[in-house]
Amino acid sequence: MMRIIVADHYKELSRWSAQFVAGLIRGKPNCVLGLPTGSTPIGIYSELVQLYEQGLDLRYTETFNLDEYVGLPPSHPQSYHSFMQEHLFRHIDHPSSHYHIPDGMAADLEGECQRYEEMILAAGGIDLMVLGLGPNGHIGFNEPDSHLGTKTHVVSLTRETIQANARFFREEKEVPRKAITMGVGSIMQAQEILLVVSGTGKREMLRQALFGEVTTRIPASILQLHPHIVVVTDFSLEPLG
Ligand code: GLP
Repeated sequence: MMRIIVADHYKELSRWSAQFVAGLIRGKPNCVLGLPTGSTPIGIYSELVQLYEQGLDLRYTETFNLDEYVGLPPSHPQSYHSFMQEHLFRHIDHPSSHYHIPDGMAADLEGECQRYEEMILAAGGIDLMVLGLGPNGHIGFNEPDSHLGTKTHVVSLTRETIQANARFFREEKEVPRKAITMGVGSIMQAQEILLVVSGTGKREMLRQALFGEVTTRIPASILQLHPHIVVVTDFSLEPLG
């Protein structure tokens, strides 16, 4: 079943999504969350920090980030390790052994992907996967392609993604060309998915993904096949005509 929640604005989208995540944590403190980066979830993390300050206990929750750039050390300001520290982890009491982000500096990247996948399994699988949407329809770093990796794997980023993410770097050539990402299969195995999409610039892509054909050219379209997906937007979303 797919539920679509249309929020009036970004703040409401963030608040609704954070409350949704908090609801799961309250019901199951040791739940396993899949977490995204990008500009969209920043508001959700800040709302979660506020909920934490009001008493939400995150100590037993385990988190797995979706992806990380290859070749950026965790200390690099644009690594997803830094992102998560800045927006969430440094603000909350959450043992570092409970949060996981792929190691994009691993000497053996294939081995790292396998290790990550095994850790997710050992944690009991993901209860709730929070996702953003790339402008080209990617989820995590699963780029449009005729073949999508199903497990955690190394990907080459498309030109489009490199350009889209260049705004976070001093210049485009600093954007890593590769990343480690959970695969579409790892994402689809989550018990529930929360897809959060902000800004009318992504409206058409989201409409195609949710109401168009299921195709590896739009990785997010595969989410249509998930039995429990909640989509939160801050714009209206008429079905395809
Ligand atoms: C990156 C991340 C994705 C994210 C996307 C969209 O490419 N790997 O997980 O969904 O950016 O980011 P934004 O929310 O900034 O548009």
